[in-house]
Amino acid sequence: MPLLEAHGLIKSFGGLRATDTVDLAVEPGTVHALIGPNGAGKSTLVNLLSGRILPDAGRIVLQGQDISKAPAYRRVQMGIAYTFQITSVFPNMTIEANVELAAMARHKARDAMAQAVDHALETVGLSDRRQQLAGDLAYGHQRLLEIALGIVQKPSLLILDEPTQGLGDAEVQWFVDLLKSLRSETTLLLIEHNMDVVMAVADTITVLQFGRVLASGDPESIQSNAAVQSAYLGG
Ligand SMILES: Nc1ncnc2c1ncn2[C@@H]1O[C@H](COP(=O)(O)OP(=O)(O)O)[C@@H](O)[C@H]1O
Ligand SMILES: [Mg+2]
Repeated sequence: MPLLEAHGLIKSFGGLRATDTVDLAVEPGTVHALIGPNGAGKSTLVNLLSGRILPDAGRIVLQGQDISKAPAYRRVQMGIAYTFQITSVFPNMTIEANVELAAMARHKARDAMAQAVDHALETVGLSDRRQQLAGDLAYGHQRLLEIALGIVQKPSLLILDEPTQGLGDAEVQWFVDLLKSLRSETTLLLIEHNMDVVMAVADTITVLQFGRVLASGDPESIQSNAAVQSAYLGG
């Protein structure tokens, strides 16, 4: 059974169908990449899946349970963590306090929370800096902190919206290594523009165009798909 399914999802803004009858199946234990040109509806789709916005029509199913109407905080408790494209870090709080705050959304017991915070900081390599103010971090480290905010919730599905945006080549390589290492602890749904990253980490790729699914499959089948090549990969 897929971990997460979307069936016929529709979301319009005014006259524009940002998400147009989208079906999606995210299999457990995989890295699933969402790609497509700017404005294709990638962020809208993950906003629907995480509950930040509600669909006009269609269904979202998590492990067999219909969550289409569940509010975002409930979906966090059910195991869906989501990091925003625009930074969601509080600059005047320490790194540790930022991660603790995110942990509170999921964990009730203090011990479990402290352990999850340690684990999340270790995983992204920020343990040594935990007492620093988040606002003092370099941009690349802030992006790592955002991932820690997701990991600390021990999600069964971690949704990342363009985690490597704005990073230099060396930093992008940290993220490739990190995303590969995360696969053993959570399923990943990843919006990513950098095709080198997508090809390095994805098991499955879904291509969106004009709010619709243009193609979905393994990296090889997507790379050799003629419609995808002309729409997106540029040749
Ligand atoms: N809150 C909103 N209000 C109005 N239009 C929106 C809103 N969010 C997204 N859109 C529009 O929906 C389309 C898809 O946007 P988006 O999902 O952000 O695409 P992507 O993430 O693939 O770049 C775009 O045309 C965008 O302008
Ligand atoms: Mg987007």
